[in-house]
Amino acid sequence: MVKKVIFLAALICGLFLFGGCSQEETKKPEDKQQKQQNINVVEAVYGQWKKSGHAAAVEADNPTEAPGLREEGKCFFCHNGYAFERQAANLEGIGILKGTSCDTCHTGYGYSLMEKGTVTIPLGDIKGGKGALCISCHSGRGKTPDQKSAPHGSVQTDVLLSKSGAEVEGFNYGRSPHAGVTDTCLACHMADGKDGISDHSFKMNKEYVGNSCGKCHKFDTLNPPAKGDYDGDGKKEGIQNEVSGLLGVVKGAIDKKLDGGKFASAGGKIQFEDKQGKVLESPPSPEVYNAAWNYFLINNDGSKGVHNPSYSVQLLQQTYKALMGEDIPKAELRK
Ligand code: HEC
Ligand code: HEC
Ligand code: HEC
Ligand code: HEC
Ligand code: HEC
Repeated sequence: MVKKVIFLAALICGLFLFGGCSQEETKKPEDKQQKQQNINVVEAVYGQWKKSGHAAAVEADNPTEAPGLREEGKCFFCHNGYAFERQAANLEGIGILKGTSCDTCHTGYGYSLMEKGTVTIPLGDIKGGKGALCISCHSGRGKTPDQKSAPHGSVQTDVLLSKSGAEVEGFNYGRSPHAGVTDTCLACHMADGKDGISDHSFKMNKEYVGNSCGKCHKFDTLNPPAKGDYDGDGKKEGIQNEVSGLLGVVKGAIDKKLDGGKFASAGGKIQFEDKQGKVLESPPSPEVYNAAWNYFLINNDGSKGVHNPSYSVQLLQQTYKALMGEDIPKAELRK
């Protein structure tokens, strides 16, 4: 996929926001010093943002098919900073494609979400503190396991809140201790970096773990020891290793059921192929579909269990059992 970066008025906006564009020219040296400091902060922030996924709009091989320029499915709302800022109902008057830039988060609609702390998404009215901003785009778009569709890439809020999994009846799925943290997503993803500025790479940076996880935990790793050997490989490893292991176990089980066939997520659907490479019109069974749904849900979430350790582990362990008729051999089951 080709990605293009469009930096639109980024710096100018930043400077304006933090005082650098002030019309009045003051002579006091301490004012000048303050201005230089503001510029340094904006430069540092800009440098981090520029390298992040947010700086680029997701492009398609054919530019007119880029999600940010597609009306059907309201793709443009999350995939085009311009449309988001204006809360556009359609693409009329929105000719330009841009990513999630300074203006997208710090002005207009984005800013109002941070102020309000609540956002309405298909899952309901979600209280997220300043993270309401992130939640507005990083949710699963109301998609549920319906034997047809596939989870979108943006299911982080769903997983954090123990939602949208293909659950088995009668099992009591857990909640995440991380769902209620102040300002949700920001608590971890925008902790202060080395320079004391909230991290605008938005990725979890191992170097600043003390400022993110360290606010509440004593460990200094993104991958702290899990409470059990959840994937049954005979070793109790870090939570991210256990969840990655579980993803592998569930994928292996689906592959076994497909007996030489394949499965993939494409065009918003889960596609199954038989061993001759023929695309199946419907999933081979509801259990196979549900297992594939849960596989993509936890995989797309991207945190390898950290967003919601219990839900991630339980969903994958229970989906295996529903598919194979037995628990994962030798695994410690999460109740
Ligand atoms: C509610 C907001 C939202 C809507 C609506 C939405 N997306 Fe997305 N989409 C996202 C987010 C956020 C990501 C990035 C997730 C991540 O990286 O974890 C994403 C990821 C993607 C990706 C993967 C890009 C990559 O580089 O990894 C594609 C392709 C995509 N979306 C296409 C679409 C299309 C096509 C539509 C409309 C049918 C659509 N999206 C609607 C929020 C949305
Ligand atoms: C206007 C919609 C929108 C908002 C608001 C938004 N994001 Fe994103 N985010 C996206 C899209 C779209 C992508 C995928 C970009 C790509 O892959 O090219 C993405 C990607 C990411 C990534 C993957 C980073 C990378 O460099 O690949 C992280 C982490 C992330 N967002 C966190 C956040 C956090 C934290 C917030 C709130 C402070 C937030 N996002 C607000 C749309 C949004
Ligand atoms: C408890 C801390 C914590 C909270 C709260 C949190 N995250 Fe994460 N997130 C993580 C960790 C840790 C990872 C995995 C990073 C890694 O392994 O590199 C991650 C991964 C991700 C990824 C995938 C990153 C990538 O590079 O592909 C996205 C996107 C993301 N989080 C968005 C969000 C959003 C949106 C929210 C709020 C709804 C949120 N996170 C809340 C800790 C957190
Ligand atoms: C995805 C959303 C998002 C994008 C894009 C974004 N910011 Fe931010 N920014 C935030 C959030 C959230 C905070 C923290 C707000 C708070 O804690 O009050 C923040 C804080 C800041 C701060 C205060 C510094 C600090 O340490 O808290 C500055 C300066 C800033 N942003 C400038 C920029 C500039 C310049 C750009 C573009 C290059 C940009 N931001 C892009 C969401 C974003
Ligand atoms: C705002 C506070 C807060 C932050 C920040 C935070 N956590 Fe937690 N976390 C908790 C609480 C509360 C619990 C539940 C008590 C416990 O198990 O320690 C928890 C539990 C956990 C567990 C055990 C879950 C289980 O039941 O298996 C893991 C793993 C974890 N956190 C990882 C992380 C990682 C990695 C980070 C940083 C990316 C992080 N946390 C950031 C508050 C936080």
